[in-house]
Amino acid sequence: MAENKLLIPDETALFILNKLDALSPHMKKNLEKFKEEAPERDEIVRGYFGESGINKIVSAIADSLRKNLPRKNADILDVGCGTGTFTRRIKKELLQEFHTLTFYGLDPTWHMLNELLKKDPEIICGVGIIEKLKESLELNNKLAGTTKFPQTFDAIISTLAFHHLENIELALSAVVNCLKPDGFMVICDTEPYDYEKNGETKEHHGIIAEHLATMAKKYFREVKTTKLKDTTCCVDDLISTVFVMELKNPIIGGRS
Ligand SMILES: C[S@@+](CC[C@H](N)C(=O)[O-])C[C@H]1O[C@@H](n2cnc3c(N)ncnc32)[C@H](O)[C@@H]1O
Repeated sequence: MAENKLLIPDETALFILNKLDALSPHMKKNLEKFKEEAPERDEIVRGYFGESGINKIVSAIADSLRKNLPRKNADILDVGCGTGTFTRRIKKELLQEFHTLTFYGLDPTWHMLNELLKKDPEIICGVGIIEKLKESLELNNKLAGTTKFPQTFDAIISTLAFHHLENIELALSAVVNCLKPDGFMVICDTEPYDYEKNGETKEHHGIIAEHLATMAKKYFREVKTTKLKDTTCCVDDLISTVFVMELKNPIIGGRS
């Protein structure tokens, strides 16, 4: 079979992650988990939300982009994009109206990115971490020998990735540094299942929307959370809430 030149080789990905000093024990554990999930990721997501849940999340994010994008030829980055289950659908939905949008994806798990690239080679992908977003984009540009990624974006989106981060405040400050002054962010994530309250031993990770909003208000003047009414995430029979958060009006360096 012909070699797919778009796919990211192990050596390149590991070179970038080492340069970023990203390979903490937490990250290594995540990389192993997501490498294993990569070939099945789309089906795993379908299991969590069902097709109709995925469509509702896609619509919520696409609506926010439609409403807030400051220009028609916008650059949109998905951080922690994985195999692009959501990125690809959001792109498809928006490109029907705006033909001049460019979609980018960043993720430390290159196995996930390679699955994405097999499905949609038009999404420009790079290896990196949100906490060091600017450095990640610069390193990818340097290795490509071209401006693969712009320095700033009109919109940065992220689905189901924030609850995996070690340092959310660092991630938010890194995002703000890579947004245009009129740029914005949209985060979709799940809240944790309250297994202690429910007397269960099984745990489902997530992030409490209010906690994320409190941190986000340090970096954005406007933060709006919407808990999706008719969409839940179901993992091992544990049901948790799904929320979409719009973060607008970025504050470089955060509130002092
Ligand atoms: C649950 S998956 C979600 C993937 C995709 N966004 C989706 O909704 O299907 C979490 C993703 O976050 C990525 N991730 C983990 N730590 C990250 C970090 N520090 N910066 C950026 N992405 C990260 C993982 O590699 C993984 O692809």
